[in-house]
Amino acid sequence: MKFFIDTANLDQIREAQALGVLDGVTTNPSLMAKEGITGRNNILKHYVDICTIVEGDVSAEVIATDFEGMVKEGEALAELHDQIVVKVPMIKDGVKALKYFSDKGIATNCTLVFSAGQALLAAKAGATYVSPFIGRLDDISTDGLNLIAEIRMIYDNYGFETQILAASVRHTMHVIDCAKLGADVMTGPLSAIEGLLKHPLTDIGLAKFLADYKKGN
Ligand code: E4P
Repeated sequence: MKFFIDTANLDQIREAQALGVLDGVTTNPSLMAKEGITGRNNILKHYVDICTIVEGDVSAEVIATDFEGMVKEGEALAELHDQIVVKVPMIKDGVKALKYFSDKGIATNCTLVFSAGQALLAAKAGATYVSPFIGRLDDISTDGLNLIAEIRMIYDNYGFETQILAASVRHTMHVIDCAKLGADVMTGPLSAIEGLLKHPLTDIGLAKFLADYKKGN
């Protein structure tokens, strides 16, 4: 399973990259705003900055919601850097744009996916990644992980190549459960990745090894 970090914070991206397990980055307009990155030129520059830190795919979201606007914006984003993946919302014109980009060989990430039917459409349109938002489903008392399982089954039934990018991952158990269910990628905060490291028996065991070493040296 690939690990993407879901942030526009360059320090956190550097930290995840330094750990050596980072495969890419996802961003969205809210994450950009959270870092105070506003204005088209600053946002475009920020995408390029992220691409220079990581080696993998970097999702950059279109703001337009009409087909022509999404195509224009997406083509400009794809021109920025060869690591850019154009993030397109799951709306009617978005599906048309996914198909357009797919035919042109431009990588895409279909975002704001909350149902198996939406994921099926994204795959039919040739999306590179589909992003089911599991945390936001959990927030409204709907099982987000069940959606990952449904999409995995549908994609496997027909051999769709669209990669399932489990998004809106909020914590470490989401990461583990997504791995069990066969998600191709997960994107979440640094804390969810670092949580995988933690086990009290590791800390206790290491403390004992070091104490025993000191006794003999
Ligand atoms: C995915 O690409 C989105 O940026 C993201 O995962 C949304 O997560 P949230 O529900 O925690 O905002």
